Amino acid sequence: MHLKSLEDTKRFAKKISKIIKKKDIIFLRGELGVGKTTFVRFFVNYLETRSGIKNSDVLSPTFNIVYDYEAKGLQVLHYDLYRLKNYKDIYQLGIFETSKDSVKIIEWPELIKPKPKDRIDILLRYSKKINSRIIKVTGFGKWRNYKFNEI
Ligand SMILES: Nc1ncnc2c1ncn2[C@@H]1O[C@H](COP(=O)(O)OP(=O)(O)OP(=O)(O)O)[C@@H](O)[C@H]1O
Ligand SMILES: [Mg+2]
Repeated sequence: MHLKSLEDTKRFAKKISKIIKKKDIIFLRGELGVGKTTFVRFFVNYLETRSGIKNSDVLSPTFNIVYDYEAKGLQVLHYDLYRLKNYKDIYQLGIFETSKDSVKIIEWPELIKPKPKDRIDILLRYSKKINSRIIKVTGFGKWRNYKFNEI
């Protein structure tokens, strides 16, 4: 799929946030600066707006590793594993624990093994035009047959 502008990325994030439920996991892959955190910002801000909550500044959790947001009973945990070097660190973050009310969105998830069975993988790539991106969405487990192209 082609996201031709920031507005398209916003629209796409909104659509994903509408289908996402508690306990869901999204892996966000793609080069530095391609738009992973931007996707999370649109995702979180849409849920906040829908819940009548003031929009948060969704920043990159590069140094903190994880930030969390709350929108009407749904907690969004936003991870950025870029700075992590080894597997042990990841284990301590509780990524593998199923927490009742949270959605986990993970930038730089490459070190995570085993990968969660049920997940949505989003790969962002640069395109020729400055504000345009190519996006590939793949569902695993319960998302396997989901038609992301049609949302
Ligand atoms: N269509 C688009 N979708 C997403 N971001 C876009 C788009 N067009 C331009 N941008 C810009 O690209 C930049 C993406 O930065 P962002 O921090 O989201 O990247 P990132 O993938 O999270 O990087 P990092 O790997 O460093 O965490 C932002 O400045 C954003 O405004
Ligand atoms: Mg980022």
